[in-house]
Amino acid sequence: MSPTASQPPGKLPGVGESIFSVMSRLALEHGAINLSQGYPDYDGPQLLRDRAAWHMNHGHNQYAPLAGVPELREAIAELVQARYGARIDPDREITVTPGATEALSCAIATLVHPGDEVLVLDPAYDSYDPCVRLNGGVPVHVPMRPDFRVDWDRVRAALTPRTRLLMLNHPHNPGGTVFGETDLAALRELVDGHPLYLVSDEVYEHIVFDGRPHRSLLGDPALASRAFVVSSFGKTFHATGWRVGYCIAPPALMAEFQRIHQFTNFSTQTPLQYAIADTLSELPEHLAGLGAFYQRRRDLFLRELEGSGFRFTPAEGSYFQLVDYSDISDAPDTAFAMTLTTDHGVAAIPVSVFQVEPPPGQRVVRFCFAKEESTLTAAGERLRAL
Ligand SMILES: Cc1ncc(COP(=O)(O)O)c(C=O)c1O
Repeated sequence: MSPTASQPPGKLPGVGESIFSVMSRLALEHGAINLSQGYPDYDGPQLLRDRAAWHMNHGHNQYAPLAGVPELREAIAELVQARYGARIDPDREITVTPGATEALSCAIATLVHPGDEVLVLDPAYDSYDPCVRLNGGVPVHVPMRPDFRVDWDRVRAALTPRTRLLMLNHPHNPGGTVFGETDLAALRELVDGHPLYLVSDEVYEHIVFDGRPHRSLLGDPALASRAFVVSSFGKTFHATGWRVGYCIAPPALMAEFQRIHQFTNFSTQTPLQYAIADTLSELPEHLAGLGAFYQRRRDLFLRELEGSGFRFTPAEGSYFQLVDYSDISDAPDTAFAMTLTTDHGVAAIPVSVFQVEPPPGQRVVRFCFAKEESTLTAAGERLRAL
């Protein structure tokens, strides 16, 4: 009898089906309007899609260079210079990745060694904690303030000699908050004298409202010198299924990152990279208008919520709106989100899934307003009826 291998223990015990899949399935089963998962129900610019087809039909179908096609890296460097005033070397400081998710994973793998502590600010995007653990790191979860801003005193109090990395996300999912100048000042003070690296998840960098700037770490040389800054063309071009993002870091860090990226995915979809490069240069109005595009949707959704039992502070950025439902129900958020889907026909995400220790009594769910206006209006009607 040949010996059979016994299955080794799982590396991510406790990780099951994501709440995003659960809610989307529930929404489908009950015919609910799906404002749960974070993706648009419309396509990106026609030019982008035409160019993807064009490049597929004109020989751009083999492996791209590991770092990304030069045309796209150059376009990213120009964009960063125009937006944040930073000069980025497209040959040594940029890697195009299959989605921001792979960039986050490779950045964490680059920095985190067994036993290293990584500060994760809750509520946090769901990939950070598992990536830290897969690399033998120890995620240290630090709650944000109840208004979903960073509590810098708590971050400082969590620093130990073993802290390697701080994960940042702004504009914030699910909080909808953006960094102000005081956040950057607090961050500068925090890293001063501490050998701390930063991963700055800025996938919603172009989706900020009411005239606010997005304060990228790339605009601050001292912070950028120790940071991996991650962005996503999926978010920027309404094309989350294309899986194209990128990462920017100083040359020495980027060289290490590329060693890992080389054996994770090697490179990113060639024709899509060319299509994005073309669209960035030929359709600058798409990016220039993105904040206003989403602000209109946010405002429409908030008008729809007027007269409902939900309370909210308007999102400052991202395409998510948090709402407090404590005037409607005292149920915990997962139960409330389920009932909202099954009985009232609108799917949302409970915020506690982004937190290791949800604050007791928190009654908040997240809606995604990256949806057609008719979808938002229909959802509003149902939500006002609660
Ligand atoms: C905060 C945050 N980071 C990263 C991602 C992943 O981006 P991508 O789809 O480009 O992998 C998302 C997607 O929802 C997100 O919300």
